[in-house]
Amino acid sequence: MEYNLTVAWFGSLTRLWPGFSARLSLDCLTSFCIPLLGSREECSFLISFLPALLTIVFWSGAIKAFRAIRYAMKLSDFKAFKKQGKKISMLTCYDYSFAMAMDGKVDCFLVGDSLGMAVLGYKDTRSVTMADMLRHTSAVARGTSKSFVVADLSYKSYSSPSKAVKNANSLLGAGAKAVKPEGPLSISIRALLKNKIPVLAHLGLTPQSFKKFCVKGRAEKEARKIVSSAIELEQAGAFALVLECIPSSLAKEITCSLSIPTIGIGAGNSCDGQVLVSYDLLGLYPDFSPRFAKKYSDFSKLAGDSASKFDSDVKKALFPKKKNSFR
Ligand code: KIV
Repeated sequence: MEYNLTVAWFGSLTRLWPGFSARLSLDCLTSFCIPLLGSREECSFLISFLPALLTIVFWSGAIKAFRAIRYAMKLSDFKAFKKQGKKISMLTCYDYSFAMAMDGKVDCFLVGDSLGMAVLGYKDTRSVTMADMLRHTSAVARGTSKSFVVADLSYKSYSSPSKAVKNANSLLGAGAKAVKPEGPLSISIRALLKNKIPVLAHLGLTPQSFKKFCVKGRAEKEARKIVSSAIELEQAGAFALVLECIPSSLAKEITCSLSIPTIGIGAGNSCDGQVLVSYDLLGLYPDFSPRFAKKYSDFSKLAGDSASKFDSDVKKALFPKKKNSFR
């Protein structure tokens, strides 16, 4: 009976290959197994489990593939992720090619004003202009369809409510889904939120206002100020909060006090997500590597080695070859 069922199931499969009969395929399989297993009955018995086995393999593969599909991250997902205890991954991204390479691999891209140092060779983030931010935000947006794109509001671009709203709207027009101003709740941040502009807040070390790289919130008074600012920003309507360079215990306290997610950088492992400068992750920014950064690749070395190899090929006339040339 099982054998006939197997034949029927196999038959429906082999109909895909006309001229191949199910019985013939199964008989071949059985004959192949007889020397291995002994009798024809044992083979038939084992082969009768084949449909169940193949069905399990098919569905587990399909479920795995389904799970691997990443859907476009939406604004509402930030709170939902926190509710579900699902961590949020965010990387800075500054151009089209890297956006294409990393799209959907992380939940969120930040077109950060670290662009100034990492890409443009400026000495700090204050030198970054809105023109820089707009150009790079549109480049990232052109290469992104899944990850959620946030753009930094550059230094002084939100020094008044009207400026803030105008510049934030230009970033949204360039393809960002949200903007990130630095610091505690201000009249400019309130204006953004009043105008329904999604705001990712940023507390702790805020490079636009502190020139020195140091941990913030170690002193109790400063820690309390960061906690109350975080609560104010949530109440005003920020959808998430970046916490940069603060003690892990303080980041944990803030994370537990808020219903919006915290995204840490140098703020320990209790935050609801983590953000990293992609050039630190890729080993592409040799000037400074903060303790909280993790280098996953050595792109600087790769670029240097590739350039040397090219130089040597050119000097030995090994490049271009015929296949690189035209007739
Ligand atoms: O500009 C940036 O890269 C940032 C992150 C460090 C959060 O603001």
